[in-house]
Amino acid sequence: MTTNQPLPRRADFPAGFLWGVATAAVQIEGMTDRGKSQWDAYASVPGRVVDGSTPAVATDSYRLWQEDFRLLAELGVNAYRFGLMWSRVQPTGRGKPNQRGLDFYARLIDELLARGITPLVTVSHAEHPQPLEENGGWLNRDMIYRFADYASIVFDAYGDRVPYWLTINEPNCFNYQGYGTGTTAPGRKGDWAAAYQAIHHQLTAHGEAVRRFRDVRRPGKIGLAMSVDVWAPATDDPRDVAAAQAAEMQNNWWLLDPLYLGRYPETMWEQLGPLVPRVEPGDLAVIATPTDFFGLNYYARNFASAGGENFVLAAKGGVSVCRTESYPQGIPEIIATLKRRYGKFPVIITENGLYAPPTGLDDPARVEFLQAHIAAVADALRAGYDVRGYIVWTLMDNWEWTAGFTPRLGLYYTDFTTQARVPKTSAKWYREFLRA
Ligand code: FCB
Repeated sequence: MTTNQPLPRRADFPAGFLWGVATAAVQIEGMTDRGKSQWDAYASVPGRVVDGSTPAVATDSYRLWQEDFRLLAELGVNAYRFGLMWSRVQPTGRGKPNQRGLDFYARLIDELLARGITPLVTVSHAEHPQPLEENGGWLNRDMIYRFADYASIVFDAYGDRVPYWLTINEPNCFNYQGYGTGTTAPGRKGDWAAAYQAIHHQLTAHGEAVRRFRDVRRPGKIGLAMSVDVWAPATDDPRDVAAAQAAEMQNNWWLLDPLYLGRYPETMWEQLGPLVPRVEPGDLAVIATPTDFFGLNYYARNFASAGGENFVLAAKGGVSVCRTESYPQGIPEIIATLKRRYGKFPVIITENGLYAPPTGLDDPARVEFLQAHIAAVADALRAGYDVRGYIVWTLMDNWEWTAGFTPRLGLYYTDFTTQARVPKTSAKWYREFLRA
């Protein structure tokens, strides 16, 4: 981590800059009053989730949301990114919505607005109803239209007052892991063709949802959130250099080129050979439907070496990630690359946080991480880039997918037996930073 950055101050940022925290529905809400999602099914298979846990209770935020909102007030954030649960709004993934589910999110949105906190709403944060998974999930082209219908329901319900929408979260990570490494739902391993097909369907579903949003002329802004990491070679060996480039291509440009240029990267398309997705005429135009901002989830710099199966580019014989480190300068670097490659568009940092071995209440490493990354956002602004907000992952320790309850990435410590949320040092630091 770079340490020569001046400590950031809120006053260095433009007025109206969004300062927030993020959560995702599966990770916090619990099972009360909702249908089964593909994550419930995945986690119920022994051996999948490291601590054997499931999202059945999580942080019980469906019932304890007012407690979560108390934390937002205590922090003094002016933005909250949270997700809707498809299996709550439309439990079977089709047909009439569940009014109780719709009412629940209406309360959340109205309460945030009443408190002067800007809601950023994720339509699907890696979740869908299990009946849709049983029908092929994202490998089934019909998912594009199921998702667009679901998105239309929530645009109808809340589109008059939600200022920022994110259609889909991280179509890269959740599909490469879901079908390639087998480490997220649906937990299929080594089926890279499926990963590319699911990505293609998700990107098309995103575009289709953006079109529906535009058709009904809602006042808010819409984009998607993707994790864009920095990739570096583990050594100077040309094979590792090629591996890092391949991983960057696979993780970042394979998805961003269709979104912003309307085409898949040609070289990688050729390298993939039989693994390429089936693309119907018109899909790429749908995918490239203009959005209003890009949601950048940024975590780290990864060091790649040749061989292995963490990231597989068939023609390259595989890539593995041998080390990951905090790298704050990645924020201005990535934003500069996005601008060079795709032109000007506003960026909101929709996730940034320290994924490190868990600590108790005292987490100085997280404070240092946040300081350095916020300073890097200030660098990007000084260099003239259009950054509109910075959102910390995550409000409180929650159910971290396949890692279960073990990682503890929150600003608040969650006692999972009593559901008490206790501020860590990082929560106190963020509060002071926001107050100053
Ligand atoms: C991101 C996910 C988020 C959380 C963080 C740690 O990739 O979007 O739900 O898992 O990583």
